[in-house]
Amino acid sequence: MQIRLWPRSLAARTALVLLASLALVQVAGLTIHAFDRMELQRFAQTRDIASRAMNNYRSVALALPEQRAAVVAELNQREDLRDGTAVVLDASPPGAELPPTPAPLMRELRVSMQLVPMPQLQRPREVVIRGDAEIARIALGMRLLDGRWVGTTMPLPPVRPWHSLNFLISFVVMTLAAALLTLWAVRRLTAPVATLAAAAEALGRDVNAPPLPETGPLEVAQAAAAFNTMAARIRRFVQDRTFLLTAIGHDLRTPITRLKLRAEFMEDDEQRRKMMLDLDELESMVAATLAFGRDIAADEPVSAVDLTELARTVLDETADAQPEMTEKLVYQGPDHVTVRARPKSLKRALTNLVANAVKYGGNARVVLAAPVNGSVMLLVEDDGPGVPPGELERVFQPFHRIETSRNRETGGTGLGLPIARNILRAHGGDVVLSNRPLGGVRAAVSLPV
Ligand SMILES: Nc1ncnc2c1ncn2[C@@H]1O[C@H](COP(=O)(O)OP(=O)(O)OP(=O)(O)O)[C@@H](O)[C@H]1O
Ligand SMILES: [Mg+2]
Repeated sequence: MQIRLWPRSLAARTALVLLASLALVQVAGLTIHAFDRMELQRFAQTRDIASRAMNNYRSVALALPEQRAAVVAELNQREDLRDGTAVVLDASPPGAELPPTPAPLMRELRVSMQLVPMPQLQRPREVVIRGDAEIARIALGMRLLDGRWVGTTMPLPPVRPWHSLNFLISFVVMTLAAALLTLWAVRRLTAPVATLAAAAEALGRDVNAPPLPETGPLEVAQAAAAFNTMAARIRRFVQDRTFLLTAIGHDLRTPITRLKLRAEFMEDDEQRRKMMLDLDELESMVAATLAFGRDIAADEPVSAVDLTELARTVLDETADAQPEMTEKLVYQGPDHVTVRARPKSLKRALTNLVANAVKYGGNARVVLAAPVNGSVMLLVEDDGPGVPPGELERVFQPFHRIETSRNRETGGTGLGLPIARNILRAHGGDVVLSNRPLGGVRAAVSLPV
């Protein structure tokens, strides 16, 4: 599996950037602190070394020449010198076996030695310093007036960048706490984006989806309010259109009835018969329009729908209405595929497609596939004559019927496909028609699961 270095989600990206900066700041802070601390330690160490060596020298220098060896022996006995410090009185300077001392350390030691108070006359005539931090030992030799050397060899432990385990633990705890807080804040900040996306998705499926809560931080509340206003406008737009449609349909009914009455008085029987047929067609179109408007207005609740069961029901009902077709109605697909939908609307959409397949194709085959990528595909196929390629989209226009079927007296109003598409799009899906390579029509329905 490939690990993505640059994640796709906003939360993960923000968290990554913040955590990286936090790490950077912590490392920089820690480094500065460590250097500072090492410098301080080195400073204290040089002061200590210089003053100890100088004090040893002074004790020896202030003693009478014959007592000096005894003083050195006494110094070596002292408690505080038991860390590996050795004082010697010798004819040559100490630390010949040690490497030379680096110049900066040497300079600091000499300066520190000047700070130890001592009568000017007693100050050492000559000073020899050897050893370094690498070998962890240092030797300071000072020459007495009698030509002998007082040497103090002592440990020079390497400076430690960290005070203690406690410091490290508290540093790690602090960093972890900051990281956790960052993650928490990022999650909180980016959550509204996901909520908004989910709300937009829900609105696509259902115009009457509940509004977003207009709470939380100012910007989030404003975004939610804007979204709700937009949803309300869309809702009103749809309602106005539907209302217009049903109002026209409704108002047409009275003139049609009047025309029918008038047609009764027509002299010419043939003309009257044709006029009556036209008016009947007009009447059924109006009725279909009204039914369509009613469907949209009725906001049926969304629930879990088993597509397999729905397809079988539609096919069974078609078989009941046309028993001679029973053999030609087939379902292929899994036993259960559940989607969230408005059951009655979805059934109407599927019924319209199956009715077309039966009416114009002479058979119907519903093929359902298992969901892929959050969407499920349902095909309604027939083995009929198909639809001319130029008409594949036009048949979705209201009242549009292909001339040939009109002549066959199949008696539709041309609302079946537009209604089916309208319903499926309101579910966040769609339906498209295509001609199958070996003849017949395929209506491909897609629905989100
Ligand atoms: N499976 C099909 N095979 C061939 N032609 C089809 C098929 N489905 C639809 N059509 C064509 O598309 C036109 C529009 O179909 P639509 O379902 O919208 O209306 P209708 O079937 O004529 O009337 P209604 O469904 O409202 O009773 C049909 O008149 C028909 O000419
Ligand atoms: Mg139809």
